Amino acid sequence: MERTLSIVKPDGVKKNVVGEVISRFEKKELKISALKMLLLSKEEAQRFYVVHKERPFYGSLTHFMSEGPIVVMVVSGENAIAKVREIMGATNPKDAAPGTIRADFASDIERNIVHGSDSQQSAAYEIPFFFSSLEIL
Ligand code: RTP
Ligand code: MG
Repeated sequence: MERTLSIVKPDGVKKNVVGEVISRFEKKELKISALKMLLLSKEEAQRFYVVHKERPFYGSLTHFMSEGPIVVMVVSGENAIAKVREIMGATNPKDAAPGTIRADFASDIERNIVHGSDSQQSAAYEIPFFFSSLEIL
């Protein structure tokens, strides 16, 4: 059993694919263990993506992530981290495998619908960023 943090990004909420994203996780035997909608401030987005602080896209990414509501969730199951990344597809939708969320719905490398923790270390930072232990079932 493993836990990962996934986010339907502002573009995904605007495109009405929140249910579609959740459904794709559920179809692959993953469970939703916590879920909520919220609006990040620019400062909160900067803290969440602090690993990318030195990247040229940091300003634009954190602006995008705070432009509208997001849906954050804890997803659980066997190999949940890798499974969610597989269901999401590559960062750039041009490189994403057919049938992945990003291949089907993403506009470009930044507005790519969904986030998933990329390692156990990231999940350990990202899950408590949004949820207290009492909120994860
Ligand atoms: P995420 O963290 O959101 O799950 O995405 P990821 O692992 O596939 O990609 P990562 O390298 O961690 O990048 C985080 C997010 O930053 C935006 N990005 N923009 N303009 C660019 O070149 C660029 N590269 C990345 C995307 O929104 C990406 O998901
Ligand atoms: Mg990442």
